[in-house]
Amino acid sequence: MSYLHWFPNIFFVVVVFFSSSLASPSHGSSQVLLEGEEVGYGYVVRSVAVDSNQKLLTATLDLIKPSSIYAPDVKSLSLHVSLETSERLRIRITDSSQQRWEIPESVIPRAGNHSPRRYLTEELNGGNSPENSFLTDPSSDLVFTLHNTTPFGFSVTRRSSGDVLFDTSPDQSDPNTYFIFKDQFLQLSSALPENRSNLYGLGEHTKRSFRLVPGDTMTLWNADVGSENPDVNLYGSHPFYMDVRGSNGHDDEAGRSHGVLLLNSNGMDVKYEGHRITYNVIGGVIDLYVFVGPSPELVMNQYTELIGRPAPMPYWSFGFHQCRYGYKNVSDLESVVDGYAKAGIPLEVMWTDIDYMDNHKDFTLDPINFPEDKMKSFVDTLHKSGQKYVLILDPGIGVDSSDGTYNRGMEADVFIKRDGKPYLGEVWPGKVYFPDFLNPAAATFWSNEIKIFQDILPLDGLWIDMNELSNFITSPPTPGSSLDDPPYKINNLGKKAPINNNTVPATSIHYGNVSEYNAHNLYGLLEAKATHQALVDVTGKRPFVLSRSTFVSSGKYTAHWTGDNAAKWEDLAYSIPGILNFGLFGIPMVGADICGFSHDTTEELCRRWIQLGAFYPFARDHSNLNSVRQELYLWDSVASSARKVLGLRMRLLPHLYTLMYEAHVSGVPIARPLFFSFPRDTNTYGIDSQFLIGKSIMVSPALEQGKVTVDAYFPAGNWFDLFNYSSVIGGDSGKHVRLDTPADHVNVHVREGSIVAMQGEAMTTRDARKTPYQLLVVASRHENISGELFLDDGENLQMGEGGGNRDWTLVKFRCYITGKSVVLRSEVVNPEYASRMKWSIEKVKFVGFENVANVKTYEVRTSERLRSPRISLIKTVMDDDDPR
Ligand code: NOJ
Repeated sequence: MSYLHWFPNIFFVVVVFFSSSLASPSHGSSQVLLEGEEVGYGYVVRSVAVDSNQKLLTATLDLIKPSSIYAPDVKSLSLHVSLETSERLRIRITDSSQQRWEIPESVIPRAGNHSPRRYLTEELNGGNSPENSFLTDPSSDLVFTLHNTTPFGFSVTRRSSGDVLFDTSPDQSDPNTYFIFKDQFLQLSSALPENRSNLYGLGEHTKRSFRLVPGDTMTLWNADVGSENPDVNLYGSHPFYMDVRGSNGHDDEAGRSHGVLLLNSNGMDVKYEGHRITYNVIGGVIDLYVFVGPSPELVMNQYTELIGRPAPMPYWSFGFHQCRYGYKNVSDLESVVDGYAKAGIPLEVMWTDIDYMDNHKDFTLDPINFPEDKMKSFVDTLHKSGQKYVLILDPGIGVDSSDGTYNRGMEADVFIKRDGKPYLGEVWPGKVYFPDFLNPAAATFWSNEIKIFQDILPLDGLWIDMNELSNFITSPPTPGSSLDDPPYKINNLGKKAPINNNTVPATSIHYGNVSEYNAHNLYGLLEAKATHQALVDVTGKRPFVLSRSTFVSSGKYTAHWTGDNAAKWEDLAYSIPGILNFGLFGIPMVGADICGFSHDTTEELCRRWIQLGAFYPFARDHSNLNSVRQELYLWDSVASSARKVLGLRMRLLPHLYTLMYEAHVSGVPIARPLFFSFPRDTNTYGIDSQFLIGKSIMVSPALEQGKVTVDAYFPAGNWFDLFNYSSVIGGDSGKHVRLDTPADHVNVHVREGSIVAMQGEAMTTRDARKTPYQLLVVASRHENISGELFLDDGENLQMGEGGGNRDWTLVKFRCYITGKSVVLRSEVVNPEYASRMKWSIEKVKFVGFENVANVKTYEVRTSERLRSPRISLIKTVMDDDDPR
């Protein structure tokens, strides 16, 4: 079938088609798409070139019939398809006669970007052929087919199963499926196998269901909209989805997964109809990536290989965080820290919202309520007790000629402009200008301001808010501008609101003459990048940045929280799809405001929320200015639950931190949907009220008011209660189980075959790190028993390998059952570090190594250090018990 077979010895095979049906496009034609008589609209393939390695295909596409809706069509397009790795296919379509806006390489570097002009030189040799063209490099499971139909289409197929992953062949009777390429309107539509596709991703939105539901339209246009509003575009844009396919009924097993990214920063609507997915984009180019998987973990590995691996987070950031908008003064902060200490609830990080600022201006301190001397001594005391301090920064710089930051910004000329002047917006300080982070000088300015402030107050991390950009005003559009008022209206705010609503107008200009229209969705990413770099420069330590607005690749720089949720039971439940989505977006350090941000929380809700939130990768309690206080010690029942669940979190820190390492090196999320570990179990595809921490710890929280039971699903295998190891659920196939969830309990189970590294409880991560290591080893009859532990100082810029860093150790544990003996072995990468630190495992707890109806645990003490490359740490004999 492939050209490779026809011309095996030719280096570059070129095939050219000249379509006789080419109509000369007439711009300004009165024809309008979507009216039924548009049959025949679209592009045809004029010429194709395929290299003999089957890794590269270029083609020219000509318009056969124009339409006038949303302005004239681009007449001639360049298609460039490359198998960038055997797991990743890139399909790029752009105007062949002129450059269009694309996300700059400096913002998101990617391999193999060629200018469209280059393709044109390759197009003109060869003979005619009516056949389709293929990329079918045998080393890859991805096959690309260019359909030489009228109009053209393309498809991507999984070779091993024959499954069609993406197919843009239009349905001639439905104009919504046509491939359209205009200056301000692109349409790309793919058929999907309706009963087998399970789609996840495409955010940021608050969703009732993690799996996308047919009929969903996902609008991507960063906006300051509270996450308590389901289904509308929120703070970030991630045009990425994962498709987990059910079985095709014959030889193809369920769970094969692939990923699709449309790398485009312009506003868009993505419509999912079950049997199709359609992108309507208001600019840029088609830059589509398909990641072959076939497991969900591999999809994440391949996706983050392209967009960048998640930034390592400091060890301390896995402790518990307390924040509120509305802390009144330094004594208020002190009393909160004190309240946690007295209640015996671990508190790692104290935060302050915009309250600390003088008139809400960045890099200032309110001289009355948060004066410099008191703030310094507060932060100093926190540090002495092993705690940390994080402050908020907003992007808008108050227009105030008596303010040093403002003056330095003006001097360096770093603000976004409109009509030749800095654009004047309005946020907390009143009138503001916004730094233009596309301008390298803005990053320098920002870093300098952070340094000046850090010299006054030694902060441990930064929280960057309002960076969508959020603007309290909507400036009038420039009359007649198709940027401020584009022909196609995306479904902004769920009501096709103008794209300029409460943000910087689209006609504003960034460095390099880039319009806000094109760069809008990149602002949060660029600010996070600059803030991350500033913290590296200023502190020399691993940065902690929390950003509200994100885009593809933000995970390289920042953590994220799901924004302004409400203290409502629905929002408690929505937080699970919320955090799972960000795992798919390559931002594994994510959480939702525990106990709810807006509205008044209640004792019961706050208790249930900490029971869930203790297992978010990022665990922070945060509330709004006028809502009731909700620190965890304020109610006895919440405090006692918090001690229990945060106690378990503290014990799990080595495991959580090892998952951070795994995320950093392979892109796999920390909090995962059940299908990550059980992709062949189709029952897991619709589950969004439970999730996994890593591979095998499952959280099944109570999400409804007044309920003391939870209906949970347990995939095959034996699961042990992680609080007491005493009960076991499971079997050879998945089970629906009703679990008791009394007021003070959350169900957390660990699966057979796991080895989980733990430490002791303490009030801070600093103190927890001083306690001895313990291993939990959970028996399995059928599967490998294994686990890992990553060790370093928790704040080295590098996590693991890279830059000559040797100050880390990775221990890989395996457990074997041989006859009546259980042998635990470790393989140690870089053993010198752990050896130098004198870390040892004090206790090994064996669970389930006998008849599961009568679970006993075997604890064996060892003082063996984690240092020897291959050491049998422990050997024990189960006397008369028959190990399973
Ligand atoms: C909006 C943020 O989402 C919220 O968390 C914060 O408290 C307020 N801005 C005030 O800074």
